[in-house]
Amino acid sequence: MKGIILAGGSGSRLYPVTKVYSKQLTLIYDKPLIYYPLSMLMLGGIKDILIISNKETIPLYKQLFDSGSQLGLNIEYAIQAAPNGIAEAFIIGEKFISSDCVTLVLGDNIFYGNLEFFYKALKKNVNATIFGYQVNDPERYGVIEFDGDGNALSIEEKPAKPKSNYAVPGIYIYDNEVVSISKNLKPSARGELEITDVNREYLKGGKLKVEKIGRGVAWLDTGTPEALLQAANFFGVIEQRQGLKVGCVEEIAFRMSFISRDKFGKLINLIPKSSYRNYLERILNDN
Ligand code: TTP
Repeated sequence: MKGIILAGGSGSRLYPVTKVYSKQLTLIYDKPLIYYPLSMLMLGGIKDILIISNKETIPLYKQLFDSGSQLGLNIEYAIQAAPNGIAEAFIIGEKFISSDCVTLVLGDNIFYGNLEFFYKALKKNVNATIFGYQVNDPERYGVIEFDGDGNALSIEEKPAKPKSNYAVPGIYIYDNEVVSISKNLKPSARGELEITDVNREYLKGGKLKVEKIGRGVAWLDTGTPEALLQAANFFGVIEQRQGLKVGCVEEIAFRMSFISRDKFGKLINLIPKSSYRNYLERILNDN
């Protein structure tokens, strides 16, 4: 299983910071936003990861993660020339995906709580698995209509009159067919290759599984200033209460045994004196 983090986009709702800076590098409490979706892939056991972003930001991601080997990962990078839509990730990533399955996570989506829904879906996926999450404002998202047995009937992108409160969050699991499906898509009225059209194609062939995520899981989408502040406060509260960090990729690499204890210690030694380093030292000493 390969992993893709799509971390480009225009970020227009976060102007002016996004005039010079990528949304996915903004700080969520104590670490860049992209750490959270990256940690999700890592917790799913995915080690081969492609980060897609615009030309200006890719050098910054390289500075942040390099080859990924310090985390026991293989991280590659690719440029999306313009925000031509989420499904373009599979065209840009064709070589990287090769003949594998792929999980795509949007670089501004954060999941917190029991991630069993994700681990199970990774194990069980046959063709395509997406998720449904109850929200108050479904008209902002792709929305799923279910029949009485919980089977998906339709998916509509940003409908004026949503048929349910179930939005599709930014994490998707596909077999290799996603590449050819994406290549055959036509841009939508807003000029994008829509992920909803990919999902519709799987749905049409009876190949789409939609798993509902329960209310015990938090899905935060961080596209607006309000949402960013809420996410920062949310993780600040949890981390201060528990004394444990959320989305700390160095800790996850160690706990998942992607790196040895020795390598973890060496990684910590490269981090400047900070509360982040103190935390990792505590993890090392306690385990
Ligand atoms: P969006 O929230 O749809 O858009 P955006 O990030 O460009 O922000 P805004 O609406 O404020 O202009 O994007 C969801 C995620 O997908 C986000 O992490 C950016 C990423 N993305 C790309 O990398 N390329 C794309 O072509 C699109 C549409 C999104």
